[in-house]
Amino acid sequence: MGKNREIGINFNNTYKLPNWILPEDISRFLKKTENHPVIIGRKTLEAILSQTKDRCPYPNRLNIVLTRNKNYKYVQGIFYVRSFNDAINEAKKRMPNKDIYILGGAEVYKYFLDIADILDITKVNGTFNEANVFFPKINWSNWILIEDKKGVEKIESVDGLGKDIIQSHVYRFMVYKRKK
Ligand SMILES: NC(=O)c1ccc[n+]([C@@H]2O[C@H](COP(=O)([O-])OP(=O)(O)OC[C@H]3O[C@@H](n4cnc5c(N)ncnc54)[C@H](OP(=O)(O)O)[C@@H]3O)[C@@H](O)[C@H]2O)c1
Repeated sequence: MGKNREIGINFNNTYKLPNWILPEDISRFLKKTENHPVIIGRKTLEAILSQTKDRCPYPNRLNIVLTRNKNYKYVQGIFYVRSFNDAINEAKKRMPNKDIYILGGAEVYKYFLDIADILDITKVNGTFNEANVFFPKINWSNWILIEDKKGVEKIESVDGLGKDIIQSHVYRFMVYKRKK
């Protein structure tokens, strides 16, 4: 998320991330979630599918997508559920004893923020004015920081004249545990 809790851009029924490119964040995310159940809101599913040629959002994971629309287009490899409880039950039934990852977006985070054990947040040190979807407000007194790793991502393009940095973001991987 950005400094103002920015997480996404929803516009005319299209959904995407703010304008950041963080390959280290993506590879960390892929490593952590592999062989785990992931719970995804329908709009986030569409954001993911718009950015990949694959038809299934994340191979080697149990992809569980929330939608209230019974006629939602079928995408192979996804389990569709109609409620938060069903999402959790499906995850526990199909992958017992595995940590369940909640991939958002804001609507989905809002519900799970009250029951999650861990918050694993990549905080990008920038503001993203184009964003209109925000992570819900967090009551920090409920959480204790257990991991904090700093990174700086530089995405470089090389033109005929040499290197040209087109994006540079400072970010932190911050993991919080719910206080007992
Ligand atoms: N920066 C990040 O890390 C990050 C992560 C995830 C997402 N995002 C961004 O967040 C944005 C999307 O977030 P969003 O809040 O607009 O949407 P969302 O949470 O991804 O999806 C909302 C949809 O999920 C379904 N849903 C929600 N609650 C439900 C329930 N209780 N039972 C059944 N279905 C339910 C509904 O689908 P139907 O309308 O089909 O019924 C609802 O419209 C995108 O821009 C995406 O790129 C960013």
